[in-house]
Amino acid sequence: MLQNFIDATFIFSGIMFILALAGLSKHETAKKGNAFGILGMIFAVVATNFAIAYTDIVESNIQLGSAAALYVAMAIGAMIGIWKARKVEMTGMPELIALLHSFVGAAAVLVGYNVHLLAEHTDLLHALEVYLGVLIGAVTFTGSLVAWGKLNGKMNSKPLTLPGRHWLNLATVVVMVVLGFWYCMSGSIIPLAIMTVLSLWLGFHLVAAIGGADMPVVISMLNSYSGWAAAASGFMLDMTVLIITGALVGASGAILSYIMCRAMNRSFVSVILGGFGDAPVAESGEMGEYREASAEEVAQMLADASKVIIAPGYGMAVAQAQYPVAELTQRLEAQGTTVHFAIHPVAGRLPGHMNVLLAEAKVPYDIVFEMDEINDDFADADVVLVIGANDTVNPAANEPGSPISGMPVLRVWEAKHVVVFKRSMSAGYAGVQNPLFFLDNSVMYFGDAKASVNNLVAALPASATR
Ligand code: TAP
Repeated sequence: MLQNFIDATFIFSGIMFILALAGLSKHETAKKGNAFGILGMIFAVVATNFAIAYTDIVESNIQLGSAAALYVAMAIGAMIGIWKARKVEMTGMPELIALLHSFVGAAAVLVGYNVHLLAEHTDLLHALEVYLGVLIGAVTFTGSLVAWGKLNGKMNSKPLTLPGRHWLNLATVVVMVVLGFWYCMSGSIIPLAIMTVLSLWLGFHLVAAIGGADMPVVISMLNSYSGWAAAASGFMLDMTVLIITGALVGASGAILSYIMCRAMNRSFVSVILGGFGDAPVAESGEMGEYREASAEEVAQMLADASKVIIAPGYGMAVAQAQYPVAELTQRLEAQGTTVHFAIHPVAGRLPGHMNVLLAEAKVPYDIVFEMDEINDDFADADVVLVIGANDTVNPAANEPGSPISGMPVLRVWEAKHVVVFKRSMSAGYAGVQNPLFFLDNSVMYFGDAKASVNNLVAALPASATR
């Protein structure tokens, strides 16, 4: 009876997780999606505890000491989780996510070793589960730690390009397959241990070889790997809920990676093989002169404009400029100007970053457009305000030999005037200089994005002069 209740609860949790994913696919339903996810997780945790207690009772194996240790560990984990989640800035989310993926990888490795050491007899299927679980877990662990280091600047974001690195990866995989046969046939810990070291190395090398601009895809790939690692743990522990959740995370992460690869014009297979970032980096030479504008000059441009497009990026997020940007939008609309937002799929530091910030500042959804929907409209715009964006509006993406070559970008330079809000002439995340800043129709409006937009709002003429 109790076992049926536990199984039914696991299935209910699985349905909640599916509803969560469905909800998270649209801004309007994202909050509901989150609520479903939380509910599913609460039920999964409660049912898992029942399952542990039930097994202990059935097997007359009640060990209060280990139960207490489990709850203390859970309480400590929950406290750290709550503290981290409350403390993290939106801009620090990707690195936190990368760190959390590394925990899932480490857990899969530990579960694998635990199952190996406790198993009295290991059949082929069990041995394969352990081997794959440890392999995926170890790759996810070091890969995620490297991604975390690159995102928070503790590691150089430039790709590590060892000579013959693809052959090195291939040789590692071949050796791991041979070790897999050895392990499945003998059940010896030696091939398992050697494979773990090789997997840790492979995870490090695959992600270290990837350049900064391609990190978004890597994060979502690692998300997918962590899901498969969790699913493998589910098989090892015979736990349905972990298999369902792991498969959902693995599959949705893989689909997201595929969508992002298409959006960035990258090959999906090449990401999985750590083949990104090998484009020879061309030195950006002298780009010419740039022009600087004051708040009053930009305000006058806006007063004369009938159509304005705003292209936000990472700088808007760091400066928390979304609120003054929303106010600027209202002021412009009140004077009869059409205002649209152009969102690049990897603007900011995580998928949907800009959409979340704009929704937070109550910018209406119907004036916010994805890159593909708006890219042809820039030619009709009088003014484009590029607020803290750089790589996502860089025309160098259309030239060969740049680390961002082939990545689709917002064609802001087709507008009559472009105003770039940033603090200096420094490069964006990918470290590539931006020729946009030196075009005849571009002006630089220097300063922290929040202060700059506030100054601009203050400088706007009280009524339209158009
Ligand atoms: P970036 O290319 O990172 O450029 C942001 C610009 O904002 C910088 O040039 C910086 O110039 C400016 N900035 C920083 N702080 C500012 C502030 N307080 N006020 C005003 N400006 C400020 O941004 P993007 O165009 O959004 O492109 C995103 C990049 O991040 C891409 O390369 C993407 O691949 C990568 N990435 C994205 C993700 C996801 S999933 N979205 C995840 C990881 C990495 P100054 O220093 O001169 O001010």
